Amino acid sequence: MTTQGQQYFIRTYGCQMNEHDTERIASLLQADGMSEAASMDDADVVVLNTCCIRENADNKLYGQLGNLKQRKIDNPNLQIAVAGCLAQKDRDEIQARAGHVDVVFGTHNVHRAAELLELARTQGPITEILEATARDDALAFPSALPVRRESDHAAWVTIQIGCDNNCAFCIVPAVRGPEVSRPFDQLVGEVRDLAGEGISEVTLLGQNVNSYGRDLAINARRAGEDVRLRPMFAELLRTIGDINGIRRIRYTSPHPKDMGPDVAEAMAETAAVCEHLHMPLQSGSDRVLSLMHRGYNAERYLRVIEQARATIPDLAVTTDIIVGFPGETEADFEQTMRCVEEIGYASSFSFKYSIRPGTPGASMPRQVPEDVKSERLKRLQDLLYTQQMAFNKSLIGRTLDVLVENGGRDDGQLFGRSPYLQGTHFDGDESLVGQIVPVLITGAGRNSLTGELA
Ligand code: SAH
Ligand code: SF4
Ligand code: F3S
Repeated sequence: MTTQGQQYFIRTYGCQMNEHDTERIASLLQADGMSEAASMDDADVVVLNTCCIRENADNKLYGQLGNLKQRKIDNPNLQIAVAGCLAQKDRDEIQARAGHVDVVFGTHNVHRAAELLELARTQGPITEILEATARDDALAFPSALPVRRESDHAAWVTIQIGCDNNCAFCIVPAVRGPEVSRPFDQLVGEVRDLAGEGISEVTLLGQNVNSYGRDLAINARRAGEDVRLRPMFAELLRTIGDINGIRRIRYTSPHPKDMGPDVAEAMAETAAVCEHLHMPLQSGSDRVLSLMHRGYNAERYLRVIEQARATIPDLAVTTDIIVGFPGETEADFEQTMRCVEEIGYASSFSFKYSIRPGTPGASMPRQVPEDVKSERLKRLQDLLYTQQMAFNKSLIGRTLDVLVENGGRDDGQLFGRSPYLQGTHFDGDESLVGQIVPVLITGAGRNSLTGELA
């Protein structure tokens, strides 16, 4: 049976790493002769690219698989694949719980997507999970995979995969493996190629971008080369900023413990880098930060932000916060509130702590009851959303550079993103799509801005 003419549909859960992997899976299926289906109902192949950062992610997957069961009974040719972090974590459990799944593959063998579907057609259900992405396997490493991009103007670039930290709440190191940086020249070459294709904005992806290159230097030394162990992320920002055609650089996520002044300096001195720093706080209590193994205290975090603000004019700071980590008392939570008040975030992601079996946090004593977590999250979000609204309102009257992504809801309307990532609506001609245009901000809601071409 051939895949020519078949249609695929990929549903993506989780973070940008997964969204970027989805782009790679899509390109492999297209190379195999398939095209994208308009909806899951039209698809011959359904891929669920999963996340397991919090527990409701698991429930969503099994709910979705339950819905697909009837479709598979109606159409036995339908193929269902489960990929991503939850596949990596649950492995054989997925086909045991959902026998109608044809293929399960993990985060280290995205490059095998099309082949595994092909094999399953003749051999029946397959689960293939690798333990790590082979640095020297030309096929497995992200650079080698073609990408079908969601946008013609903006692209994600993976600079490192995996994570060497051991935050007590976090499942990522277990599902994405150890930290592996992509070679500097290869990355710069990729961004140069993207610029050549008309991409003007890149978002550099990694779990701890400030430690980018550490493993490269360690490996080079082991191989007998005389290299200095030095932070390389600032240098990467500057080098990419020099590439012709790259007008905007974003990155996520840096880590407060590894953030040196050199990164803020590179941001300030590289015109293309957006004045936006996403710096996960997680907690404002030193006791909780230490239980979390985060490697910094509140004072260190505040100093990092202070230095960045002093160096980068008009900097917007955003964050991630967890409430209800085991052992978090009311007094600890109040420290988080105080930290948030002191910093003033432009936007944020905030979560109730979710037990991830196998992580140190799961077996810690004094788990916080669900209702206490909910109540703290509500108080925290009230504060964070007020700050977000205030930040957006503060932009009224300013002219911001907006990268026009597409036409808006109505004719003559455009939609784009400000340097701070807010969606921005304004009137203008479709021919501006793909360009960066100055927009005078005239209105602000919590999640978006409105304005007029300046
Ligand atoms: N590497 C990034 C975070 C990646 S996960 C960093 O170190 O900041 C994205 C966010 O999900 C985290 O910042 C954290 O706030 C949240 N998160 C991770 N594990 C969680 C858990 N078990 N429960 C609740 N939130 C969690
Ligand atoms: Fe998870 Fe911590 Fe690594 Fe971020 S730095 S991915 S929170 S272990
Ligand atoms: Fe991302 Fe979820 Fe995996 S947040 S790294 S897709 S567990």
